[in-house]
Amino acid sequence: MRRSAVVDALQGFVGSEDLAKALKGVDIIGRIAVIKLPKEWLGMRHQIGEKILSRLDVDSVYMQTYPARPGDRVRGVEWLAGKQCTKTIHSESGCRFKVDIAKVYFSPRLSFERLRIRGLVREGETVVNMFAGVGTFSIIIAKNSPETRVFSIDNNPYAFELMLENIVINRVNGRVVPILADAREATSNLGRIADRVLMPLPELAEEYLGDSIGLLRGAGWVHTYIHESGCGEKEAVEKARERILRKAREFGEIEAVCGKVVRSVGKRNFQVVLDLKVRPN
Ligand SMILES: C[S@@+](CC[C@H](N)C(=O)[O-])C[C@H]1O[C@@H](n2cnc3c(N)ncnc32)[C@H](O)[C@@H]1O
Repeated sequence: MRRSAVVDALQGFVGSEDLAKALKGVDIIGRIAVIKLPKEWLGMRHQIGEKILSRLDVDSVYMQTYPARPGDRVRGVEWLAGKQCTKTIHSESGCRFKVDIAKVYFSPRLSFERLRIRGLVREGETVVNMFAGVGTFSIIIAKNSPETRVFSIDNNPYAFELMLENIVINRVNGRVVPILADAREATSNLGRIADRVLMPLPELAEEYLGDSIGLLRGAGWVHTYIHESGCGEKEAVEKARERILRKAREFGEIEAVCGKVVRSVGKRNFQVVLDLKVRPN
């Protein structure tokens, strides 16, 4: 919808045989539009920003300069038009999230996945979110299940500060427990307390799998996100499943597993989620 509004705004302004294909991506985060542009349009980026600003109900337009970097997963952004402010409030699933697009990771494209996980959590569970960002998964879960406690870990101090604010804004104090630390260090301090663990950071999926399983107090669920290549979604899910199961079996017995593609992250590359029910050793 927003993408088509942007395509309409640029129709006849930039020369391209297939505008919709050339425009590489549009994310609306709160009052900010973040666009990806092909190289040949960079000389006109500010005019393009102005055109988009006049069409979309946003205050600012920024351009992505590099994709989410390893570690804090923050992407590079450059201001194009409107207010020069990288802070905004994003509404999702009845919650509000303060975000600074220049300092923390945030993707509105995961909203359906966050809702899916929320739907799996049973009231009263203890959940650990090992890579929580500004608290999105954790707060959406806690808001829906008042008896559930979510330990919410991130090692980016900017994300942690915003998570603290988001906990207050969404009135989930005490139900979401914020922890500023490396996930490995935090999990070893927490011990075996969890019914469910979230690992929403593909680059550490394999390396930290043992840490996540070590958090389970009995047979419980680990939701791990992983990037996998494949000719299609089915092949990517199968490869991810094989890779993660091989590793997971070192730490426990696998009682159930299901997987699916969350989103496409490049040509023949997918973000896959695997839901594993594991009984730890
Ligand atoms: C992909 S983001 C997750 C965002 C969040 N789940 C969401 O949906 O908005 C990954 C997060 O993991 C954090 N991170 C990276 N390495 C970490 C580590 N070793 N320990 C704890 N957090 C880490 C980053 O700072 C980043 O906020």
